[in-house]
Amino acid sequence: MNLYLRLLRYIRPYVLRVVIAVFCIIMTALASLYVPWVIKDIIDDVLTAKNMTMLNIIAVGVVVVFFLRGTFFYGQTYLMSYVGQRVIIDLREALYRHLQRLSLSYFESRRIGTIMSYITNDVAALQTAMVENVIELVTEAAILIGSLVAMFYIHWKLTLLTLVTLPMVAQAIAVFGKRLRAASAVMQERIADITSILQETVLAVRVIKSFVREDYEIERFNRENYHNFQAQMKTAQLLAMLTPIIEFLAAIGVTVIIWYGGREVIGGNLTSGALIAFLIYVVNLSNPIKRLSRSYGYIQRAMAAAQRVFDVLDTEPDIKDAPGAIELPAIKGAVAFSNVSFEYKHGEPALSEITLTARPGQVIAIVGPSGAGKSTIANLIPRFYDISTGIITIDDIDIKKVTLESLRRQIGIVHQETMLFNGTVHENILYGNLNASEEEVIAAAKAANAHKFILDMPEGYATHIGERGAKLSGGQKQRIAIARAILKNPRVLILDEATSALDAESEALVKEALDKLMAGRTAFIIAHRLSTVQQADIILVMDKGRIVEQGNHAALVKACGLYSKLYQVQFEASDVSSK
Ligand SMILES: Nc1ncnc2c1ncn2[C@@H]1O[C@H](COP(=O)(O)OP(=O)(O)OP(=O)(O)O)[C@@H](O)[C@H]1O
Ligand SMILES: [Mg+2]
Repeated sequence: MNLYLRLLRYIRPYVLRVVIAVFCIIMTALASLYVPWVIKDIIDDVLTAKNMTMLNIIAVGVVVVFFLRGTFFYGQTYLMSYVGQRVIIDLREALYRHLQRLSLSYFESRRIGTIMSYITNDVAALQTAMVENVIELVTEAAILIGSLVAMFYIHWKLTLLTLVTLPMVAQAIAVFGKRLRAASAVMQERIADITSILQETVLAVRVIKSFVREDYEIERFNRENYHNFQAQMKTAQLLAMLTPIIEFLAAIGVTVIIWYGGREVIGGNLTSGALIAFLIYVVNLSNPIKRLSRSYGYIQRAMAAAQRVFDVLDTEPDIKDAPGAIELPAIKGAVAFSNVSFEYKHGEPALSEITLTARPGQVIAIVGPSGAGKSTIANLIPRFYDISTGIITIDDIDIKKVTLESLRRQIGIVHQETMLFNGTVHENILYGNLNASEEEVIAAAKAANAHKFILDMPEGYATHIGERGAKLSGGQKQRIAIARAILKNPRVLILDEATSALDAESEALVKEALDKLMAGRTAFIIAHRLSTVQQADIILVMDKGRIVEQGNHAALVKACGLYSKLYQVQFEASDVSSK
């Protein structure tokens, strides 16, 4: 019931159109009810009485009624579609807007296909329910009531007899409706499963081919496909059973009426025209009951969809502005962690007791083995996750006390996994600052050592780079991502393995440009290659979520700890390869 009320809230802005549409639907339905009455009049007043004037009146009446019916039909279809489509647009927008606000952890704990099916399948199910079902429900309800009124008018005893069968039919619908609802919920889930697998395997097509896992994937897909088939058949079977059962009950009712009605005509209590009209009304009556039950199934399905859509809308983002959050003023770039501990999953600390201070303009390098927690530190500065203990400050302001927007606007990140959008090179760099001029975009590309290779591409900055930048090499993607971050012109820049896919020469060029750019900015540079970080003001060496050493290059080499060991290994390796 709450679901209905919430959906109604979306319909409220269009309530006038709904009222007119419902009026049109009722008028269309009433016009259909006119047909049996015409047949009764023709049999009793024209054919039996041989009345020419009456024939003319009826002929004109039929033409007028059907003209009006057509007009109302246009009104009902057009208006209901309008309202339905508008509500869907509003709902889809609300859903997408909300998804954009949800935290990273929400997306990490769900499959892409599931999220996509909210916006496509579920919203579409709601649209069908709102446009087609509302028309059908109101039409059939009007025909049901109108037919009953006409039937009582014709012969009330006969009508009561007819109504004995109705509760039986209603009972059958109720039993099946419940099972149908459960079956259709399973069906929707199975469809989402298929979408998920499809999504995942298309994205990972390279991995599948390189492991020669086509057959394995086909097997996996077939399994889901078959589950989907089973779920579909379960629903189909229920629907298939529902119809004949209702029709059989209706047939029994009709037979009883013909038998009793025939006796009344023979006894002179009813005209033949009236009995025929009555029978047509009864047959008409079985249609609404059948269709209402079908609509009931659709509505159950739509309600399951509405439930999922509203569940998304009701999910609060984990990370959001604290009440009374202030705008972070333009920062100088001092970043400090004080006793910070953090865990992605409860009981598995990713960071423990991290304390670090970066003064404005300093370059902080973070090194350490894979899984040590380097990227995690990078994730915490823009508050992608909230920490459980400790405090992170920027210019001595707790980042939990400022708005996310003002915080993230002043931080630039190049992520470890480069993500670009399907579009041109220019559009991708411009993403860093939508108001940047052509010259600024080119300057950023030059700083990222990307300008030259961009000009070498067929259409230069207007070249389309394919989905997720598929037409670029790993190093080219990274350089465009760096240009995008540079264009943002942030006071705090975080580069997570941002030059890992570049050769030594390109890396040196990018570093040189960055060094110039970094003047007066705070930079966090995460790198496996220690040659990248030697000039850093502070090098933090991390292991298993802790900072195990810190200092500059010379001091750390002298200390003979983890850093000097890592350095030794890399130095020897490069020594061997250069020979
Ligand atoms: N989104 C996440 N959800 C759950 N656990 C995560 C998540 N991201 C990272 N972890 C875990 O946190 C720990 C630290 O990961 P992190 O990505 O910070 O390592 P890293 O030092 O950046 O490693 P690499 O050098 O391989 O990039 C790892 O044990 C990892 O499994
Ligand atoms: Mg990492």
